[in-house]
Amino acid sequence: TRNGIDFAVADLSLAEFGRKEIRLAEHEMPGLMALRREYSEVYPLRGARISGSLHMTVQTAVLIETLVDLGAEVRWCSCNIFSTQDHAAAAVVVGPHGTEEEPKGVPVYAWKGETLPEYWWATEKMMTWPDGQGPNMILDDGGDATMLVHKGTEFEKSGVVPGTDEANPEEWNVFLDLLRASLAADAGKWTKIGSQIMGVTEETTTGVLRLTQMAAQGTLLFPAINVNDSVTKSKFDNRYGIRHSLVDGINRGTDVLIGGKVAVVCGYGDVGKGSAESLRAQGARVIVTEIDPICALQAAMDGYEVRTLDEVIEKADIVITTTGNKDVVLVDHMARMKHQAILGNVGHFDNELDMAGLARYPGVKRINIKPQVDEWVFPTGRSIIVLSEGRLMNLGNATGHPSFVMSNSFSNQVIAQVELYTKREEYDNEVYRLPKKLDEKVARIHLEALGGSLTKLTKDQAEYIDVDVEGPFKSEHYRY
Ligand code: NAI
Repeated sequence: TRNGIDFAVADLSLAEFGRKEIRLAEHEMPGLMALRREYSEVYPLRGARISGSLHMTVQTAVLIETLVDLGAEVRWCSCNIFSTQDHAAAAVVVGPHGTEEEPKGVPVYAWKGETLPEYWWATEKMMTWPDGQGPNMILDDGGDATMLVHKGTEFEKSGVVPGTDEANPEEWNVFLDLLRASLAADAGKWTKIGSQIMGVTEETTTGVLRLTQMAAQGTLLFPAINVNDSVTKSKFDNRYGIRHSLVDGINRGTDVLIGGKVAVVCGYGDVGKGSAESLRAQGARVIVTEIDPICALQAAMDGYEVRTLDEVIEKADIVITTTGNKDVVLVDHMARMKHQAILGNVGHFDNELDMAGLARYPGVKRINIKPQVDEWVFPTGRSIIVLSEGRLMNLGNATGHPSFVMSNSFSNQVIAQVELYTKREEYDNEVYRLPKKLDEKVARIHLEALGGSLTKLTKDQAEYIDVDVEGPFKSEHYRY
């Protein structure tokens, strides 16, 4: 704690560098800056206590300071052990008007290279407000903060350790240890927090899946807005964001020439489409794997070979998973890969790759090349290069998606926070999306920033295609 702000970051002296990059990022985030202008002197988030779990990057710093600008109190942690940019974390603690000696920003618990116990410690700190009040809003990416509240409440009510059958039992045990410790310290903590929360806004595909499952079971404790499925989020961040940051991660991690190589992209959803496009743009020969015939056909029509991983694993130079599913690349696949082939995942959790199986493989040796790059040597003498230990490598090996595309995503986040915080009574404990009109508003701001000019419908034309002159311009089921 310094100047009344509690925090845990790598190095507060990085704040000045962080502030410089935040200043540059602000110009590239016109959506967030427009929201700051729109709500200046209105403070729609006054009284909001937002606990946020989302990659602590420069772009997220601009999001956090926008929430503060709108009146919120905020606490933050990262939603991934490798994704924090330490200079951004430091700058957020110091704040735009503070100094290293006298920070005036926001409590942040995040540093690059956390261990799993540290990760859950940081998440609990982010949810624990010093006055014992707890948050009244969550901003989540992947659903870990939301899960903590839900599993904690379940644990407190039943006294039974919640579920042990998660995908990765070792990681799950780290989480359960935290839960047991917090229950021992305060037996009603999560029930109290859960009852005060007015809503959560969720950033990503994987977190939305978790929320939808809870809503279907009737266990969701508060309303949720699915930010991911705003068109200006998933069709932009997931796709064009990864198109930028995937090859950035491969390059920074390995500096291997991508041109001419065979790259396999597992999954051809939004993230897969952007991944395949970026690898092809580097001259890779790209092969796609899919389970959904529609996405597989899209890949074929886009000119990619569609194969199963088993058919192509021996010839792949680069394998990237983008499915949000588990067990996509198994250790047997890994053992069959070419010498020094590169393996990385950009789906939300590391269980897309069987990292636990790899660590247990008889005779396998791990050689750390540098942070977030490991060579795993099989007994045959052949090795593979695994990026970010199988976790989101575009954030672990590079700096994630760039500001302009995150401005789209985060504008939806801010709008969603304002919506739930100011209109709680209009929402049930279900999962909602933002109205299309707001999606179009976010797009309009960013189009203008790029200097595009939009054609305006005449009244006559609008009537002919049965829409309003001012939008929304598409029906709900339109897929873009
Ligand atoms: P999506 O649902 O659009 O795409 C996933 C695709 O994978 C689907 O088409 C599905 O049919 C396919 N798939 C599922 N199981 C498969 C398997 N066993 N083999 C091959 N294909 C399979 O989801 P989206 O939006 O593309 O997100 C994917 C993941 O990426 C999620 O975990 C999401 O949270 C994460 N994400 C990561 C980002 C990053 O910066 N790294 C940014 C945005 C999302």
